[in-house]
Amino acid sequence: MNRRSFLCLGAAFAAGCATPGGMNLASGAPERVVNAGPAAQYLADGVYARYRDLGFFIVRRGANLFALSAICTHRHCQLNAEANRTFSCPCHGSTFDPDGRVTEGPARRNLPVFALFTDEKGDLLVKICATPG
Ligand code: FES
Repeated sequence: MNRRSFLCLGAAFAAGCATPGGMNLASGAPERVVNAGPAAQYLADGVYARYRDLGFFIVRRGANLFALSAICTHRHCQLNAEANRTFSCPCHGSTFDPDGRVTEGPARRNLPVFALFTDEKGDLLVKICATPG
């Protein structure tokens, strides 16, 4: 686990959505891990939205690679990734900066950051949990 992954996991715990045993505190459901394919396909800066329907975006910014929830923290609508690398909610207009911080409500909670791992084959694994309600 690299420093960023540790921080991501810490953020997930801080968001109240995960426990060390892998249970989701918000719903009681287990966490899930999604294989996002070879990590080498995320080398260019940008927001990768191909897993939006599974609940997350992968973001590359320089040496940093992280996964952000694609679910609005207001009432759980699916977010859109904008050309300027921010995120917007089509339901009630909340917006989030490129790090997932709220820039306009009604959402008040930042987007959870999910832990990333690389397996022995070099695939990127994203450990996701539900956005706390
Ligand atoms: S669900 Fe996103 S602003 Fe309400």
